[in-house]
Amino acid sequence: MLGITVIGAGYVGLVTSVGLAQRGHTVTVVEVSERRLEPMRQGVVPIHEAGLQEGFTAAVDAGRLMVAREAPASADLLFLCVGTPINDRGHADLAALTGALRDLRPQIDTGAAIIIRSTMPLGTTDRVVREDGLPESRTFTNPEFLRQGSALGDFLAPSRVVVGTGRSPDSELLERLRTIFEPFAAPIHVVGYADAEAIKNASNAFLALKLSFANEIAALCECYGADADTVLQAVGADPRIGPLFLRPSFGFGGSCLPKELQTVAMAGLERGLEMHVTVAAAEANLAHQDRFAARLERRLAANTGTRVALLGLAFKAGTDDTRTSPALRVVRRLLAAGYEVSAFDPAVRQVAVSEAPGLRVSESAAAAVAGADLVAITTEWPEFRDLDWAALLRSMRKPIVVDGRRLLDPAAMRAVGADYERIGSAPPPLAGPESAPGPIGR
Ligand code: UDX
Repeated sequence: MLGITVIGAGYVGLVTSVGLAQRGHTVTVVEVSERRLEPMRQGVVPIHEAGLQEGFTAAVDAGRLMVAREAPASADLLFLCVGTPINDRGHADLAALTGALRDLRPQIDTGAAIIIRSTMPLGTTDRVVREDGLPESRTFTNPEFLRQGSALGDFLAPSRVVVGTGRSPDSELLERLRTIFEPFAAPIHVVGYADAEAIKNASNAFLALKLSFANEIAALCECYGADADTVLQAVGADPRIGPLFLRPSFGFGGSCLPKELQTVAMAGLERGLEMHVTVAAAEANLAHQDRFAARLERRLAANTGTRVALLGLAFKAGTDDTRTSPALRVVRRLLAAGYEVSAFDPAVRQVAVSEAPGLRVSESAAAAVAGADLVAITTEWPEFRDLDWAALLRSMRKPIVVDGRRLLDPAAMRAVGADYERIGSAPPPLAGPESAPGPIGR
């Protein structure tokens, strides 16, 4: 049985550890942060991921998963799952990775294979192998394509496995990796380091680009009285386009996609290449979010509203992660414009004051919405559909609902008295003082 050590118990490392244990391997997951280590020693998974707590408990109980502060002396495979955060210039901070590799020098010197799962921007792996003196024949990369909220499922059923190798990989170790990945019944692409980096970066950048395009078409639909879902579902019916990632919103977030656009753009610019499409997709995403905030401000101003409630703070449903969340960007814009802002999110119970000074995070949708002049849907939590909207609307000063995620049913909302509109469809003709002409969102 292969001795597998996973370095880093973040969302990639913990999912990888539990996934490999569920595939019958014996795994030690190593974490240096007491904040993460302590709950795990008590059997509690410190991140919000579907199925992860159950998988962790079962693997620990079966003796297939151990949690440690230091790596075991003997390890055949070392999976590096530490963060490689991208700074604002699109460069990866590799300090955690090189620090972990330094601590693993004894294991590396006794023949362990190094498998880097951390996201490596283009040109990074070669540099790390060279600068950290890693044995190229035993150093592999294995980029992950996990979505938060469905990460364990994505790990256990990947659409493809990518293994990046140096110029002459150790064939025995490569075979060992194949034995791990073959049961996943997905095509295994054994490629060079740069290919693996480009596959990961291009995959994420394309997903982001597709989202920006969907959101732009949704805005165009608003201007011409078309319906975004009607249009994009028919567009996605073309197998060359595909239906996924065409669900329009007022913008996308997360720790990966927005940053990946910056990383890919920077990778090109550093080699003198204009990255027209990638840069445009990043700029468009921010513009869509600002356009949504302007739309809310226009509705509030036209109704002399001062209080706005947001339902949703996480960057997407199914997670408590607010990193580059479009909802928070809109919150900051509304606070800066002087509005009172309250918010409720089923998974996000608090937001650092530095993130949104003045935001009131409520314990319930009812508490967030009571007395508001407008409520915006900003994260696609399915439970927002089941709220008692008749009661919520009665508790508001104005029953205005602006759906930034096209989550709610327009007819059902209007039937309970909502003055409802949503991105991607032309707003209803505005009665009264709001009927002033002019395009939405200027
Ligand atoms: C993404 C990639 O999907 C994954 O392959 C990569 O490994 C990490 O980055 P993640 O950021 O966790 O995963 O979530 P994802 O499901 O991709 O959603 C990203 C953003 O796009 C969210 O804000 C989500 O709400 C939004 N989104 C997604 C849409 O607005 N419409 C869609 O159709 C899909």
